[in-house]
Amino acid sequence: MQLETDLLVIGTGIAGLSCAIYYAENHPESKITLISKRNISETNTRYAQGGIAVVTDFLKDSFSKHKTDTLNAGDGLCDPEVVDFVVKEGPQRLEELLSWGVAFDHNEKGFHLGKEGGHSASRIVHYKDRSGFQIQEGLISRMHALPNIELLEYHSLVDLITDHHLDQDHFGRCYGAYVININNHKVQRIAAKATVLSTGGAGQLYAHTTNPEGATGDGLGAAYRAKVTIKHLQFVQFHPTALHPKANGNTFLISEAVRGAGAQLKNIDGFTFMKNYDARGELASRDIVARAIDSELKKASSEWVWLDCTSISRKVMEDEFPTILDTCRSVGIDPLKDPIPVVPAAHYFCGGIAVDQFGRTDLDGLYAIGECSQTGLHGANRLASNSLLEALVFAKRSADQLSEEMAHIPYDASFLTSIPRWKDQGYVSTKKTSDLDLIKKQLQSIMSQYVGIVRSREGLNKAFQETQNLFQQINTIYNTKTLSLQLSTLRNMIAVAHLLIDQAQNFSQNKGTHYIADDE
Ligand code: SIN
Repeated sequence: MQLETDLLVIGTGIAGLSCAIYYAENHPESKITLISKRNISETNTRYAQGGIAVVTDFLKDSFSKHKTDTLNAGDGLCDPEVVDFVVKEGPQRLEELLSWGVAFDHNEKGFHLGKEGGHSASRIVHYKDRSGFQIQEGLISRMHALPNIELLEYHSLVDLITDHHLDQDHFGRCYGAYVININNHKVQRIAAKATVLSTGGAGQLYAHTTNPEGATGDGLGAAYRAKVTIKHLQFVQFHPTALHPKANGNTFLISEAVRGAGAQLKNIDGFTFMKNYDARGELASRDIVARAIDSELKKASSEWVWLDCTSISRKVMEDEFPTILDTCRSVGIDPLKDPIPVVPAAHYFCGGIAVDQFGRTDLDGLYAIGECSQTGLHGANRLASNSLLEALVFAKRSADQLSEEMAHIPYDASFLTSIPRWKDQGYVSTKKTSDLDLIKKQLQSIMSQYVGIVRSREGLNKAFQETQNLFQQINTIYNTKTLSLQLSTLRNMIAVAHLLIDQAQNFSQNKGTHYIADDE
């Protein structure tokens, strides 16, 4: 099935869903096509525990404090203008979220506000430790109420459609995307007047990540092939406290809000250590805490450090952190009595597709919002819980800008129908899955070993060479075999890894999450 639409939104986390909703509400006459790689709920947003950093308590907090915290966490690389408007537009975006039916925890004074690393005030609006899930569900029901949004689940981005895919150069724009339908493995052409990438990050590049399986950098990979500018990929944020994978088989996040409520980090011998690294102790910014843990692990040759929550009352743990409590208990750890074994895990891409203040990339007709974008808000290290805020603010700004842009699209619907279908004739059967599995494991091992929290010049050079080899291998497979979801996503992962390493090699300062030990 080939499709034509007004607006194509790729990705159904908070950024994509809210952009589609904002646009659909203002343009009931327009058709918006929204695609999700898996079930609509399976996004990074769903797993966000902390919440949204937004100033609501103007007695104890202020825009100026939130801006200063964001700039400090970003280690000198934030764009101050972006920081200013994102922080100031936060309360209005929160109001809209509430009006769409998303609920947050309250107490007698108003919102119950959490605190996380790098924040000088309690300002995280949250719903227990399931904020992302709550937001995702609220947005999904709002989206279903809008008849002009067409949802295609189990469709994954393969490539953006640009002049390169047409017989001759036309308008130098993005004309939609080729996407693979996971149910029948057919590549479908979705021609669109404008396209929004909201495809999230690429935590799956690493062996241990808090991100779900779908976080393979598809938007980044497709943008890279379309020659769209991508910036600051070297800034990969590791969350300091993921439950040690030996405890539950995969990497489960233990929210920073637990440290905000008083939990302490202890080394394998049971001693606190954070004050040796930063006066803010447990609530230093994430880059600093993750590096401190990394150093403690290496010093003691241990596999984990402890997160001791025993100073937090039973009531607070049960009321505010029920998911963490249940998950730990399900693997035999009772946080009310036992320390939790934790390690840092790849969590968030601070860099991404470069956009202006309205989410526009440098390819006309293409927008990027949410984690796949680089807006200038996060600099070298994102302040905790600023990501959902950024997603909402840029979703709204992009939707408004799209309203302007749609009035001046340089072609009509008949041009969209003339855009060619995907060409896959002549390909032979897909490479065996096990070969692709092996390449993915190799990639994750290279990234984890050489491109983690502490890097070295030699390690980055090795990683560059090795990902170059994987790049060649995957291109050979891609050019000769029928496309599958696995092949398409692995191709993206390798492209993103290679570019990330290149950007890390070419960045000469240690800033935020990017730290090369030899450059110290
Ligand atoms: C957390 O709850 O610690 C994660 C929130 C975030 O990544 O901003």
